[in-house]
Amino acid sequence: MTIERILDYAHSLIKKTIEPGDAVIDGTCGNGHDTAFLAELVGEEGHVYAFDVQEKAISNTKERLAEHGLANHTSLIHDSHANVQNYLKDKHQHNISAAIYNLGYLPGSDKSVVTKPEGTIQSVENVLETLKKGGLVVLVVYHGHPGGAEEKEAILDYVSGLDSKHYQVLHYGFINKKRTPPFILAIEKLS
Ligand SMILES: C[S@@+](CC[C@H](N)C(=O)[O-])C[C@H]1O[C@@H](n2cnc3c(N)ncnc32)[C@H](O)[C@@H]1O
Repeated sequence: MTIERILDYAHSLIKKTIEPGDAVIDGTCGNGHDTAFLAELVGEEGHVYAFDVQEKAISNTKERLAEHGLANHTSLIHDSHANVQNYLKDKHQHNISAAIYNLGYLPGSDKSVVTKPEGTIQSVENVLETLKKGGLVVLVVYHGHPGGAEEKEAILDYVSGLDSKHYQVLHYGFINKKRTPPFILAIEKLS
């Protein structure tokens, strides 16, 4: 397989950006796959801030982290990612290396709880503010569910308008798949 699949490519981008000791954000921890991936990469000296609005997601992520011995350097935050700036330690303000969001609903759970355009954009805006130079925000945009198309349009509109002097934005996806395949938007902070 030459062309990386969506989730593999999202992880490749993150891997290239972060180093042990870094502070990073999982904007939608869900079942904790990305949180565990990030916690592994930043190691004991680093820190992961992981958000979700569902108690179930927080407990699933907690379990996954405990299983892999990754709980000590992760903050699990039961709140909207839109409030991210309220939770960062002083030493991590303006020193975040990367953030990842998987938009949509929690697989195997309540499909009516989905990420929303206003909350997602507010969160990305706040994270860009606190991201260090060379840092990266990766959004995996799932949009096949009710409300997904509106969120997709809003986020595409928002990232397209980011000033190219300060940010470059990548749009990565397979364009000949049936239905509504997910795609990646990755924002790199240049200055
Ligand atoms: C596609 S799932 C995330 C999957 C996850 N990355 C994983 O590895 O399993 C999307 C998650 O976003 C959460 N969510 C929805 N709105 C949110 C918000 N405003 N802030 C934080 N999380 C939110 C949902 O509860 C759901 O768990």
